[in-house]
Amino acid sequence: MRDFMQRLQQKRVLLGITGGIAAYKACELCRRLCDLGADVQVVMTLAGTRFVTPLTLQALSGRPVRTDLLDPAAEAAMGHIELARWAELILVAPASADFLARLAAGTADDLLTTACLASDAPIAVAPAMNQAMWRSPATQRNCATLAGDGVRIWGPGSGSQACGDEGPGRMLEPNDLLDRVQTLLGTPPVLAGRHVVITAGPTREPLDPVRYLSNHSSGKQGFALAEAAAAAGARVTLIAGPVAVPTPAGVTRVDVTTARDMLAAAEAAAQDADVFIGVAAVADFRPANAADQKIKKAAGGSGLALDLVENPDIIATIASREVRPFVVAFAAETENLIANARSKLERKRVDLVVANDVSRSDIGFGSDDNGVTLVAPEGEECLPAMPKTALARLLIERIARHAIEAAPRQHHAQS
Ligand code: C5P
Repeated sequence: MRDFMQRLQQKRVLLGITGGIAAYKACELCRRLCDLGADVQVVMTLAGTRFVTPLTLQALSGRPVRTDLLDPAAEAAMGHIELARWAELILVAPASADFLARLAAGTADDLLTTACLASDAPIAVAPAMNQAMWRSPATQRNCATLAGDGVRIWGPGSGSQACGDEGPGRMLEPNDLLDRVQTLLGTPPVLAGRHVVITAGPTREPLDPVRYLSNHSSGKQGFALAEAAAAAGARVTLIAGPVAVPTPAGVTRVDVTTARDMLAAAEAAAQDADVFIGVAAVADFRPANAADQKIKKAAGGSGLALDLVENPDIIATIASREVRPFVVAFAAETENLIANARSKLERKRVDLVVANDVSRSDIGFGSDDNGVTLVAPEGEECLPAMPKTALARLLIERIARHAIEAAPRQHHAQS
């Protein structure tokens, strides 16, 4: 399965760079396009090469940069017409006033304008120039012509300029341009439109107004999964016990204290959930009666017997609903990893168990690394030790695949 972050896998982008100080940002843009899996062919105008070197862009894109329309060697490798046909998108960033004028006029006096003229691919330009040049009637007229020709005009942004002016004419930031490229070319993220509910952290079970029973769960793995699910396009509800971990961007967090609070929040969130992942270390027991007042030491040091009752099993409750999401449990085991995880899969009637061998000191509790075995009804898959954030991404990818394959069988919200 593709990495869900690589939304531009094998998309062919011709990145045009013309003469402007914003060309330095095109280096970052080029790199990020490649990170997202795109094949990037950089074409620079002569003026562009005065701001950043073709060598820089060659190193970033992994391909020789094209600058010359009539270079026999480059033309022999991929002629300019071939290059124009190769591109699935032509993005010119930065696009100077001069380039916009030449594109609007339909000239073909260098490789970049020729490629634009000869290509059927969508063309996007990110104007970058001094604010007065941008405001000039000629540039505005050229942009109107280009927009009429179907060219996408991305930006410019407004703000302080390299020349000291303030106003419109700044090239959009690489992030913003990347978002637009992904919207235009990218495959949708694997969990787009899905609701993922995750429980994380410990629960606290009060003994009296000042004491509680709990455990050492940090919440880190659950929070990393929430972040990865959001990055995969999901709407994420993170039901968190008391932990000191920041909420990942774009995630809705519901703070709870006890197992019963967590169950109530989970049941409410699970109504329209597609995937439910129980990462929380829920306290198995709670004091039968939490005292209203602080419990005092008995005279004579006779000790204290605690009367405990079992907490509800949140994940089993969600998995037993008639209409239910795809349910994933975590299992921390010290022996018979697979057998115990498999029995948990059956007993709790969940769809997938992430089994963690907590007897190993190099992974799991207290470590930044973790390695797990995925136990599904049809088989197992071992994911070796790696940083918890990397593991979270891999787990979300696997969970998404299992959930989507299972969707027609049992899950309501994915229809
Ligand atoms: O039975 P055990 O505690 O080993 O199962 C672990 C899995 O069950 C985890 O996914 C955990 O979040 C979930 N669980 C739960 N409610 C409980 C106990 C465990 O959801 N009361």
